[in-house]
Amino acid sequence: MINIIVAIDKNNAIGKNGDMPWHISTDLKYFKATTMGAAVLMGRRTWQSLGCRPLPKRRNIIVSSTLKEAQGAEITPNLEEFIKNWPKEETLFIIGGGEIYKSTINLADKLYITYVNCEVEGADTFFPHIDESVWSKVEESEKIVDEGSNLEIVFTQYQRK
Ligand SMILES: NC(=O)c1ccc[n+]([C@@H]2O[C@H](COP(=O)([O-])OP(=O)(O)OC[C@H]3O[C@@H](n4cnc5c(N)ncnc54)[C@H](OP(=O)(O)O)[C@@H]3O)[C@@H](O)[C@H]2O)c1
Repeated sequence: MINIIVAIDKNNAIGKNGDMPWHISTDLKYFKATTMGAAVLMGRRTWQSLGCRPLPKRRNIIVSSTLKEAQGAEITPNLEEFIKNWPKEETLFIIGGGEIYKSTINLADKLYITYVNCEVEGADTFFPHIDESVWSKVEESEKIVDEGSNLEIVFTQYQRK
């Protein structure tokens, strides 16, 4: 099972200056609970944005053609082959960033999208268009206001049709 998990704004923005455009602790808790115990795969730049530290209690995989070593994580230089050989009965979460989402949206079974009700000014990284002829929305939460950031978010899940 290949899942994508991401938080996006109204224009599909996901990043700015190599970092997340927001700090939404409600979404971080959701991300942690959803991915806990599974394997997570990320691009080299997302790994660096996490301070080059593995997410605890998850198998961490970094996609990179330049990185040779990473403490607490595995490195794969070949994204397509890695996904193709992933065992169907195991859960892999693709956790970003923009380049990796773009290369894997056509290979994923499920999307976990957190909609953030804002428009990030100066965003430089985006999630690809979610084509509703390909994806069905199967879950949608109530609107939740994150206390710290005061941003309104909605948790959704999409299944490939
Ligand atoms: N909102 C969210 O939920 C969310 C989630 C995650 C990340 N983000 C944001 O997204 C931004 C980072 O995204 P990004 O697009 O700049 O970078 P990225 O996708 O995290 O990483 C890109 C790097 O991954 C490696 N890579 C990509 N495709 C590859 C392939 N086919 N084979 C081998 N290596 C490959 C390359 O590393 P090498 O150059 O080492 O070869 C490339 O430079 C940050 O702003 C981050 O905060 C947001």
